[in-house]
Amino acid sequence: MSRLSLRLGLLGGFSTFLFDSSVIALENAPNDGDILKHVDPLIGTAKGGHVFAGATLPYGMAKAVADTAGENQAGFAYDTEVVTGFSHMHDDGTGGSPSMGNFPIFVQANCPHDDLNQCKWQQSDRASAWDKKSVKARPGYFGISLENGVHAEMTTTNRSALYKFGFTNTSESLSPLILLDLMDLPQSRRNGTAEVDPETGRLTGSGVFAPSFGIGTYKSYACVDFKGAELRSTGIWAKNRTNSERKTLELGANIGSTASAGSFARFHAPADGIILARVGVSFISTQQACSNAEREQPDWDFEGTVSAAESAWKKKLDVVSVDTTGVSSDLQTIFWSGLYRTMISPQDYTGENPLWKSDEPYYDSFYCIWDSFRSIHPLLTLVDPHSQSVMIRSLIDTYRHEGYLPDCRMSLCKGNTQGGSNADVVIADGYLKKIPGVDWDTAYEAVVKDAEVEPPNWDVEGRGGLQSWKNLGYIPYQDHDTYGKGTHTRSVSRTVEYAYNDFCIAEMAQGMGLKADQEKYTNRSGNWAHVFKADQKSSIKGVDTGFTGYLQPRYANGTWAYQDPIFCSPLLNFDSCYLNPDGHETYEGSAWMYTFFAPHDMGSLIKTLGGAESFTSRLSYLHDSGLLYVGDEQAFLPVYQFHYAGRPGLSAKQSHFYIPSQFNTSVNGLAGNDDSGAMGSFIVLSMMGVWPVAGQDVYLITPPFFEEISVRNDLTGNNLTIRNINFDSSYKSIYIQSAKWNGKPWTKNWFTHEFFTKGGVLELELGPKESQWGTHIEDLPPSLSGYE
Ligand SMILES: *[C@@H]1O[C@H](CO)[C@@H](O)[C@H](O)[C@H]1NC(C)=O
Ligand SMILES: *[C@@H]1O[C@H](CO)[C@@H](O)[C@H](O)[C@H]1NC(C)=O
Ligand SMILES: *[C@@H]1O[C@H](CO)[C@@H](O)[C@H](O)[C@H]1NC(C)=O
Ligand SMILES: *[C@@H]1O[C@H](CO)[C@@H](O)[C@H](O)[C@H]1NC(C)=O
Ligand SMILES: *[C@@H]1O[C@H](CO)[C@@H](O)[C@H](O)[C@H]1NC(C)=O
Ligand SMILES: *[C@@H]1O[C@H](CO)[C@@H](O)[C@H](O)[C@H]1NC(C)=O
Ligand SMILES: *[C@@H]1O[C@H](CO)[C@@H](O)[C@H](O)[C@H]1NC(C)=O
Ligand SMILES: *[C@@H]1O[C@H](CO)[C@@H](O)[C@H](O)[C@H]1NC(C)=O
Repeated sequence: MSRLSLRLGLLGGFSTFLFDSSVIALENAPNDGDILKHVDPLIGTAKGGHVFAGATLPYGMAKAVADTAGENQAGFAYDTEVVTGFSHMHDDGTGGSPSMGNFPIFVQANCPHDDLNQCKWQQSDRASAWDKKSVKARPGYFGISLENGVHAEMTTTNRSALYKFGFTNTSESLSPLILLDLMDLPQSRRNGTAEVDPETGRLTGSGVFAPSFGIGTYKSYACVDFKGAELRSTGIWAKNRTNSERKTLELGANIGSTASAGSFARFHAPADGIILARVGVSFISTQQACSNAEREQPDWDFEGTVSAAESAWKKKLDVVSVDTTGVSSDLQTIFWSGLYRTMISPQDYTGENPLWKSDEPYYDSFYCIWDSFRSIHPLLTLVDPHSQSVMIRSLIDTYRHEGYLPDCRMSLCKGNTQGGSNADVVIADGYLKKIPGVDWDTAYEAVVKDAEVEPPNWDVEGRGGLQSWKNLGYIPYQDHDTYGKGTHTRSVSRTVEYAYNDFCIAEMAQGMGLKADQEKYTNRSGNWAHVFKADQKSSIKGVDTGFTGYLQPRYANGTWAYQDPIFCSPLLNFDSCYLNPDGHETYEGSAWMYTFFAPHDMGSLIKTLGGAESFTSRLSYLHDSGLLYVGDEQAFLPVYQFHYAGRPGLSAKQSHFYIPSQFNTSVNGLAGNDDSGAMGSFIVLSMMGVWPVAGQDVYLITPPFFEEISVRNDLTGNNLTIRNINFDSSYKSIYIQSAKWNGKPWTKNWFTHEFFTKGGVLELELGPKESQWGTHIEDLPPSLSGYE
């Protein structure tokens, strides 16, 4: 979820497969010094990137940052003016409403005239300007200075945050006041309770809140302890009134979800000018929130917690090595920051799930699989297969207990489905790549249920229109569906996604020896063609684009409806295809673009679109005309689909067009919402030169942006090294002339997952012009009905 010329020269050059095999070194190239120095968590924190900039462990539940007013989906945004609090749980890169941010704490150095009622309480009153120059963000750490004289630093363990508050004015009147607000970022509170322990100053909060892009409610809990200053007084507050006598506050719905209220503790001046706040979080109880913090942070060791977080991140990132010779520091930062962002979410809530009892892991913030199936999960399969395994297990356990796989899930709630039942793709991808530890029988049962049994509310799970799907072979425009309720838009994009989901089921059926299922779902995977209108034309500002045949909406009776093929591209009504009841027949993109989505049968699609040359010029037109917005995930695969037409060089050319022009090191350096790291995963896989076709055992080869990259497979201990011969860091020589796999010629323009699990060296000889390499029909990636 996200928003906001053609050259057809002759194939140049001849490849020489006889190039002598050089020495094969299986060792990883060493990374250049401290790779964490190349991680900049501020990339994508402005202009709608919605990146979480704060402190977190990989997949950590605690995510601490300063929350700003404005477009604050992930708490902090760089293009804002004021900070309203510091909170401990967030999502990363998402669209939808802001997420979580429950129970912010806020610090004031003293109350004017030492009068509690003159401190600032409500969120809008207490908001304090922040100093742009003061912001420091790195893995496991976030620091910021506020105009109110508070300097805040924060770090986290898995389930607790540790804040270190200093004061820029250490006058004698220093008497810090720290409040806890029963608030969350989307202001969704239904009710809440705040308490303070007058002996210790411990603040606790609990409340019922709503998810940011889904249905239902969730309960959340926090527990705040302090260290470093002597307790002076405690109490509760609501709006701008305080009460030091009472220690418990209960809020119902009547006060309204936008009202600030909570508990507070006031301190004498801290001995060394610093006060620490340790915040435990939980979805189970306040007791568990407190014990999480006590267990994970017994020592209140700020520096130790930061360095533990740094080690955890370094360990995660270190499975990839790059040779940085000639590569700019900016490109290195784009790369490592992208890899970092793909491991912020999903979040590990194991032991924090109140919804069901299970020995299986529980991960949350799959936000959303529509965004993450294409490249986040395939990337995790390479760099962190263990986590990919527990995430898949968690999805299956969610199926066991909720009845369906989620397409989107956040804050223990069902999230909105944007298109197909794309968890099917994640599961088939893991099955084909032999992710260990998964109960594939139940996994198969879950994907078949998606394909066969329509849920009562298909806005949050499964698929809609299944009756039509089975009987007509497409999702009709204005479908009449008596089986379930859902938003009757996106008939075209749902049709092509359901078709691909069915293909993924067919692949699993094949692997499991279920012949009849394999045939059934293979047949249904051809349904994309039923919404292809062969004589449809398309023009831009009255000028014919020169291509014929596009996906179009279609009534149940077979008659075509009409949606301008460029509608919802950046060139026409860009913002009209969201998940609203008045959305249209494609989701967040044009029919022009969705016409390319048949990843399982590209040979047939190419034929349908008039053959390889016509396909290539149409795909180039998609990129060159401004029709494609690379900030939304459906745009990723079309960067690489030139491979299917025997033009792998054009895929390389396109990836260099988008990186770094659309993905760079600035705070607005992401084309769209990062969507839990989706943009980051596009960057990383593109720069490694291994584009995974999600849901298939296929990686499309382009030259890495580095002279050499290596990826260590944590399950087998083996390394895949990809080495560019004639590497040119000005990226003029980006065309593969010939390739060798472990010293032998490799002519296919793709390879399989075995390259990663078995390890080896892929050498790519580069040149400044396209060659014959990877261009012949036998070199092309798999396609269901072959190529002509
Ligand atoms: C900090 O000190 C400066 C100069 O003494 C003063 O102008 C400012 O108001 C003080 N800020 C706070 C929050 O006390
Ligand atoms: C944090 O959780 C991860 C799993 O998500 C686990 O591997 C790691 O050991 C935990 N860290 C600590 C310090 O407990
Ligand atoms: C808040 O709502 C939940 C569920 O609706 C209920 O269980 C709880 O008792 C309520 N708490 C308060 C303080 O009203
Ligand atoms: C508290 O808010 C009320 C209503 O907005 C206002 O009249 C009053 O002056 C405020 N009191 C303080 C101490 O700010
Ligand atoms: C699917 O099955 C139907 C009916 O059996 C048949 O008419 C159709 O050609 C098949 N489609 C494909 C793509 O195999
Ligand atoms: C098909 O249905 C549409 C919408 O109800 C209608 O406009 C169209 O005339 C119908 N076509 C035929 C051939 O009945
Ligand atoms: C950086 O990326 C953003 C987002 O794609 C883009 O708008 C901007 O022009 C890029 N900046 C540069 C200097 O290329
Ligand atoms: C993989 O690379 C690492 C260095 O990152 C090296 O220590 C290890 O021996 C390599 N493994 C194999 C099987 O080559």
